[in-house]
Amino acid sequence: MSDYEENRLYRTGIPAKYSGERSGGETSWGSVDPDEYRQVMGRFVTGVSVISTRAGDLDHAMTANALMSVSLDPVLMAVSIEREARFHDAVMEAGKWGVSLLPESERRVAAWLATRGRPLHGQLDRVDFHRGPETGVALLDNAMATLECHTFDTVRAGDHTLLIGHVLSVSIAARPGDALIYYRGAFGVQH
Ligand SMILES: Cc1cc2nc3c(=O)[nH]c(=O)nc-3n(C[C@H](O)[C@H](O)[C@H](O)COP(=O)(O)O)c2cc1C
Repeated sequence: MSDYEENRLYRTGIPAKYSGERSGGETSWGSVDPDEYRQVMGRFVTGVSVISTRAGDLDHAMTANALMSVSLDPVLMAVSIEREARFHDAVMEAGKWGVSLLPESERRVAAWLATRGRPLHGQLDRVDFHRGPETGVALLDNAMATLECHTFDTVRAGDHTLLIGHVLSVSIAARPGDALIYYRGAFGVQH
């Protein structure tokens, strides 16, 4: 098997000879429509978080739901960050970040921090937050739980980067309230 074929097997699980290679050597990676894919993944109900970092003197924060637990030993988590988002370069530079898991009462904040092109300066002016003890990044006061991470690894994945973090600290609210969720492109509530 050539290196190319081996790489392809690793990436797709399907040897090149079975996977619809077009004539003339052009590669086919499949024909799933991205909008349809987005709709499909919209059926996967998630919580909603704000991820935050601090690069230079500037706080960056962004709404994110592409979040997962990765490992317990060591304790690792991951979030997928669009390479075009302004948060991307900031967190790559800073190497440290925070995650605030949002209750339903923070729906307005979630919508604000998902607004493309909002002013970077002062974007947290109307958000109650404190600084994480390990990283100094902004963590939301009203979060159901918070985590602080150092970047453990990054994986370039298409138009996103998979950011894997070593979890340095966690905190849990005594009364978390109802959870903010995201389902079929809209916010909702989990009682
Ligand atoms: C519910 C929800 C979840 C989101 N999850 C992610 C995510 O996991 N990763 C990501 O890169 N963008 C995600 N976004 C989009 C970003 O929040 C948005 O693109 C970003 O705030 C744009 O900021 P910018 O103008 O500073 O680049 C999500 C948006 C919403 C509404």
